[in-house]
Amino acid sequence: MRYPYQIKSREEYDKIYHKSVEHPLEFWDEIAQHFTWKKKYDSVLEWDFRQAHSKWFSGGKLNITENCLDRHLADKADVPAIIFEPNNPDEHHRVLTYRELHFKVMQFAQVLKNNGIKKGDRVCIYMGMIPELAIATLACARIGAIHSVIFGGFSAQSISDRIQDAEAVAVVTCDGAHRGNKTIELKSVIDDALMSCPTVKSVIVCTHTRTPVSMIKGRDMWWEDEIKKVETQGNPFVAAEEMDSEDELFILYTSGSTGKPKGVVHTTAGYMVWANYTFVNVFQYQPGQIHFCTADIGWITGHSYIVYGPLSAGATTLMFEGIPTWPDAGRFWEIIDKYNVDILYTAPTAIRSLMGFGDEPLKNRNLSSLKVLGTVGEPINEEAWHWYNEKIGKSNSPIVDTWWQTETGGIMISNLAGITPSKPSYATLPLPGIQPLLVDENGKEIQGNGVTGNLCIKFPWPGIIRTTYGDHERCRQTYFSTYDNLYFTGDGCLRDENGFYRITGRVDDVLNVSGHRIGTAEVENAINMHAGVVESAVVGYPHDIKGQGIYAYVIYTGTHGDDNLTRLDIIQTVSRIIGPIAKPDKIQFVSGLPKTRSGKIMRRILRKIAEGELSNIGDTTTLLDPMIVDEIKEGRL
Ligand code: WTA
Repeated sequence: MRYPYQIKSREEYDKIYHKSVEHPLEFWDEIAQHFTWKKKYDSVLEWDFRQAHSKWFSGGKLNITENCLDRHLADKADVPAIIFEPNNPDEHHRVLTYRELHFKVMQFAQVLKNNGIKKGDRVCIYMGMIPELAIATLACARIGAIHSVIFGGFSAQSISDRIQDAEAVAVVTCDGAHRGNKTIELKSVIDDALMSCPTVKSVIVCTHTRTPVSMIKGRDMWWEDEIKKVETQGNPFVAAEEMDSEDELFILYTSGSTGKPKGVVHTTAGYMVWANYTFVNVFQYQPGQIHFCTADIGWITGHSYIVYGPLSAGATTLMFEGIPTWPDAGRFWEIIDKYNVDILYTAPTAIRSLMGFGDEPLKNRNLSSLKVLGTVGEPINEEAWHWYNEKIGKSNSPIVDTWWQTETGGIMISNLAGITPSKPSYATLPLPGIQPLLVDENGKEIQGNGVTGNLCIKFPWPGIIRTTYGDHERCRQTYFSTYDNLYFTGDGCLRDENGFYRITGRVDDVLNVSGHRIGTAEVENAINMHAGVVESAVVGYPHDIKGQGIYAYVIYTGTHGDDNLTRLDIIQTVSRIIGPIAKPDKIQFVSGLPKTRSGKIMRRILRKIAEGELSNIGDTTTLLDPMIVDEIKEGRL
């Protein structure tokens, strides 16, 4: 048995869950024995939710790359660590064994050192989905630099905000990235972003698309040249920096209900234990299997289930550069057959989109290697769940519906593949160590089954958010102050008669568009940047593929030409300020917004209209100008 802590039956789950709640310190102490420590910790957990404070494995010394790489060299040196499938199916794939990955991570760690980057420095990584992205993150971790990976779909402005917030000293990027038939000019976006980032001293550019770039003297350098320098130095062994358990591992920016994204901070030991434990148990990974997580490393799912979870478990992780619908909608299925993928972990939005192409792309596809299917990022509707189960899993592969968040570091509520039961559209049961509870508006616990409420967690777990970068008070306010002594998730939730949990969606002003978290305030700020816009209000509405679409109500006083052209202008503005992922799907021009006498926008009303529930708007008598509601209803798109 490769993973002594892998749960093997429903009975064992019940027993272990019970133990994890009754004796959490003892429980996690035992799990932590299965990792490589430079020095053992002094205490398992110290915590105080009222101060947004959780410390795991205090006093311990370790390096996560020793756990992800060095320790596998004894028995897994020739096992593939990363399989890379390029965007273009005609190009050769690449395989990096654990030995090769270890070597390349050390080389790049030396590159970082040669450029004066040291423990505690922040490094921004803005790359396409190529192995060098994983290498760059691991190289940062090797020397104790804190990585902040930014998704390739963010604009220069968003990148610059994030770099400034983190005061990053270096950027690692590519000339460009391939996505389907498009090339994204990453370096050029970085150049724009860096106009306002004086802290950045070096930019390392990996050659990938051969897109022409401008290299700035004294700041920019090629990845390949830097590696050559290291080779001439004689490829030194870069010792893994000794990190404290609570030393910061990475920052990942995510949207909340305010306009400014926050840098969620994860630290070394707890995150590692949590990513590994959840990977091994939820997917029931068996050595030798191929794990294919389709997320981007720019999101938490990629951090935890492409890089740190699988690699810390000595698994083989498949990285795919492209998109599911190019060159055709059979791309995922082709990849699964090509490599005999065992585990497929993807998002409901991808499933719904592929379902829309019917059975044709599945013709002549075998898919018989698949053993476990997973979903993440948003609620999965029953229709998509059944399609996934029948067409992809041949009703033979358990589906794990995994609920979690950037802030939780790893999966929190999910069935364990083939071990605990699944139920369509339900995340089902909490992982060991997770104590969910539902509360009403006033924070009163809702007991019993067959109830709904706001989802909170009442005890820390190793992967819990430690702080929001540079602003601990914001972390406390956002997650630990809504309800006393509880972590508040921002999600609504139902608990059925069997105690299974079903996440119903966000209850705050955060949208979930194709599994991407976007704050309504953020989109409004971006729309309001347009010269002709006076004010705007953004809400979500149900969207067949994306889960939620973005509906914007806009008061516009600029020169009114063609409404559609104006819409395109506004969309372009949002693209520039945030990135293409936040583009509104619908823009309705209005002469006013429904506001209370104190000036607060009544989003509830706007949401109902966007959802098409025109007859059920609710009370409008408290509005400053109730007439505006009729106008908005009439103009609904
Ligand atoms: C939503 C992604 C329903 C939820 C890992 C959460 C889900 C937000 C599920 C976090 C699921 C994630 N079922 N909803 N299985 N998984 N969500 O930070 O609203 O990008 O709060 O992390 O996605 O999104 P994030």
